[in-house]
Amino acid sequence: MAIGELKRTHYCGDVRASDIGKEVVLFGWVQNWRDHGGVIFIDLKDREGLVQVVFDPSVNEEIHKRASKLRSQYCIGVKGTVRARPEGTVNPNLKTGEVEVVADTLKVFSECENLPFPVEEYVHVNEELRLKYRYLDLRKPQMQRNLIVRSKAAFAARQYLHSQGFIELETPVLTKSTPEGARDFLVPSRLSPGKFYALPQSPQLFKQLLMVAGFDKYYQITKCFRDEDLRADRQPEFTQIDLEMSFVEEDDVMEITEGIIASVFKETIGVDVNPPFKRITYQEALDRFGSDKPDMRFGLELKKLTDIVQNTKFKVFKDVVDKGGIVYGLNAKGCIDFSRKEIDDLTNLVAVYGAKGLAWIKVKANYELQSPIVKFFSKEEINGILKRLEAEPGDLLFFMADTPKVVYDSLGALRLEIGKKLKLANEDEFNFVWVVDFPLFEWNEDENRWEAMHHPFTSPKEEDLEYLETDPARVKARAYDITLNGVEIGGGSIRIHRSDVQQKMFKALGISDEEAQIKFGFLIEALKYGAPPHGGLAIGFDRLVALILKEKSIREVIAFPKTQKGVCMLTDAPSEVDEKQLLELSIRVKKPKKE
Ligand code: AMO
Ligand code: AMP
Repeated sequence: MAIGELKRTHYCGDVRASDIGKEVVLFGWVQNWRDHGGVIFIDLKDREGLVQVVFDPSVNEEIHKRASKLRSQYCIGVKGTVRARPEGTVNPNLKTGEVEVVADTLKVFSECENLPFPVEEYVHVNEELRLKYRYLDLRKPQMQRNLIVRSKAAFAARQYLHSQGFIELETPVLTKSTPEGARDFLVPSRLSPGKFYALPQSPQLFKQLLMVAGFDKYYQITKCFRDEDLRADRQPEFTQIDLEMSFVEEDDVMEITEGIIASVFKETIGVDVNPPFKRITYQEALDRFGSDKPDMRFGLELKKLTDIVQNTKFKVFKDVVDKGGIVYGLNAKGCIDFSRKEIDDLTNLVAVYGAKGLAWIKVKANYELQSPIVKFFSKEEINGILKRLEAEPGDLLFFMADTPKVVYDSLGALRLEIGKKLKLANEDEFNFVWVVDFPLFEWNEDENRWEAMHHPFTSPKEEDLEYLETDPARVKARAYDITLNGVEIGGGSIRIHRSDVQQKMFKALGISDEEAQIKFGFLIEALKYGAPPHGGLAIGFDRLVALILKEKSIREVIAFPKTQKGVCMLTDAPSEVDEKQLLELSIRVKKPKKE
């Protein structure tokens, strides 16, 4: 690294007591600027940290004078000699705290205008402003750390995968729709007017074709594009560690995934995560935690009460059971003091998931019960409920009767909320759980049809093959998701490798032969040419890194993320384009009327 006669010898953050007496050349940004009785001190900062630089008029009057013009975030180069800091000025909190550099050469590369926000340390700044000036935001130590950890994580994954014989291959970005359950981003084709490419929601089909091609073990750290509603853990473009393997079963893919995760945690934050991780079936996850991504750092488990209340006189519950619904309860241990308002807030929370109400019982001293609903229950029913929920004086019991989906979603969310209120989860724990035995299909209420729970290329379990058309609800998938602290960080499956089964699958999904041919003809055909049994998985890389760093949003670990509205504040994308460009693409834009 050299600019003219200045050749960098060290990163600022790397100067140590062992360098005392040496001449060093440093490049970086001015952090703090102080004039102490004629001697100017600055903290010079680069990627690796900061070091104190001294401009002493008795050493060099001319550069001392120039140094007095330095201001925050000027980009400069300095040559000088390392010396021990005088007694009493050593800073033990700083890696470079024992030394300082006495400058004899100063080169100002760039001045810096008034900053829109301070970058030296953490101060709360509106996120849109941070994203508009992301290059400044990224100068902050925390953001530098985040992206450096991200880079280390990617490197660790690559190293591990290469050590296991994986080959890194690229797949197209301008391609055809790959259904992963989101909307496609489309790219119009100039050369084929009226036709569109889709950006890949994942490399799913191509990685399967690479298996047909005989590459045996593929991986790629790659961008995926999904036009869906954005949240803290969702971006329209995000990164996957995507892999696929031939001649494997579930355990093989899971073992490799655990290997990647173990090595990423070790190399980034030095934590041993000790695989194999626990496994839980989809149904058990729902029954106990109300979620297919259970946060198992704490208990507060749901309990099924349907059998106890099936003949109850409480009409609300009875009607639900008669219609095939379920009744579940949750014991918020020791929460008897929750106020009316707190219970109302929780009721509002579950309403978001379609719950029509949230019944509760407070268990007072001597098992005296306070509740709007106890009067409807028989003695046996009450006793059965208290026993099943292991209720004790001081507890607050919640109840929900509805369709399974509403009960699981509502009580799952209620469990997390109460867990948060009571701080039940150990924030320092990394709790990995595999969720297995997913159903192959999911019923789409709105469209009145079966949908693939993962994607349509997931293999059914061998023993359920015969029910593919006759009883889709009971068919289980050879799919597995990996979760960490209640977040889905990856998912995959053993795939269908037989063309006839794939066609049956499309049929079960209500995709006609003709439509299947148009959309996936190339896959159906490829599977006819000696396709090996294969399977794989993709890790949501942004989520993994965010969890490692305990960041709440994946935007904190992405250099240039988009806002919740899918806008890039920095470049102002998406933006309007020239009429000429549209003409070339044979596109006319009809703007929706403003509401
Ligand atoms: P899936 O759709 O489950 O599987 O995606 C894998 C993982 O990617 C992460 N993820 C996201 N991260 C950020 N923003 C998003 N919008 C987003 N969507 C998903 C999640 C998820 O677990 N082709 C299959 C994998 C396979 O079967 O091999 C797939 O893409 O952490
Ligand atoms: P109601 O008889 O409608 O006033 O309801 C009595 C109590 O039952 C109230 O606390 C409601 O919040 C609750 N409740 C109503 N519907 C349900 C339901 N489907 N599941 C659980 N609780 C309910």
